[in-house]
Amino acid sequence: MTIQWFPGHMAKARREVTEKLKFVDIVFELVDARLPLSSRNPMLDQIIQQKPRLVILNKADLADPKETQAWQAYFKAQGHEVIAMNAKTNDGVKKLNQSAQQALKEKRARDAARGIKPRAIRAMCIGIPNVGKSTLMNRLVGKKIAQTGNKPGVTKGQQWLRSGKDLELLDTPGILWPKFEDPDIGKKLALTGAIKDDLLHMDDLAIFGLEFFSRFYPERLSDRYKLSAEDLFLPGPDLLMLISEKRGFRDDYQRASEMIIHDIRQGKLGNYTLDRIEELNPDEISHQ
Ligand code: G4P
Repeated sequence: MTIQWFPGHMAKARREVTEKLKFVDIVFELVDARLPLSSRNPMLDQIIQQKPRLVILNKADLADPKETQAWQAYFKAQGHEVIAMNAKTNDGVKKLNQSAQQALKEKRARDAARGIKPRAIRAMCIGIPNVGKSTLMNRLVGKKIAQTGNKPGVTKGQQWLRSGKDLELLDTPGILWPKFEDPDIGKKLALTGAIKDDLLHMDDLAIFGLEFFSRFYPERLSDRYKLSAEDLFLPGPDLLMLISEKRGFRDDYQRASEMIIHDIRQGKLGNYTLDRIEELNPDEISHQ
């Protein structure tokens, strides 16, 4: 699902999330493990403020495991509970429940001291489109939830979906917008398929992907497209031309670009993480 975000939509989405926050104990913030920063909403801290949060690095099955570990440490250092999971399987569900309990430990202790009995945790999933909110909710609830509410602007009374005895989920996820200001973020989101292809030129996107892989995973690029070590020093546009020629596409760079993007999205070049801790600027690191 791709939503075109305009200022009016953003204001409305923000209002809806703010309204729903009142009803929950904890926010499950979903991000794409391949883009732990680029797939975050830029205003989430401001929107959710002090509400306890569990950061879920979803689609970890597609990301580089070493990078996922580093990003988990990054979010922990910011004081958040964090897990990495694949919402398409049951593997992370137990850990998710444990981490949600952990995130609410202090609140539970305070409640107990005031004689308040523990009840099921109330949570809502929040994230930009395509990070896997519906997939995770279906997984936690154990059935296919209605898709009708999965759009900004559809409001109804709060309804709770039960997930085991200790967790209840708000039936509609909070959908917020991604960061737009940095063109590289747009390319990263497009490369993973999170935003529509027609927002960007295919060749720009393929070149971006080639330059990324030749920098961080050069051997995979040479294996896949039969490139020599010297070829990998070529600038992105030349690399695109070379691959196009090797594949017999001649000067049909559009076709070569589509193939490369498809390969990256389908994991033909292996698991990858586009946001790199080592590329954070000192400002972002000092937030740790
Ligand atoms: P959203 O509600 O946040 O917008 O995301 P949604 O659950 O619709 O998921 C978007 C796409 O991401 C879906 O793929 C979904 O299957 C996939 N997905 C969600 N979580 C994971 C995960 O942990 N790992 C992997 N590999 N994929 C995940 P789709 O192609 O749109 O649909 P489908 O082909 O699965 O039907």
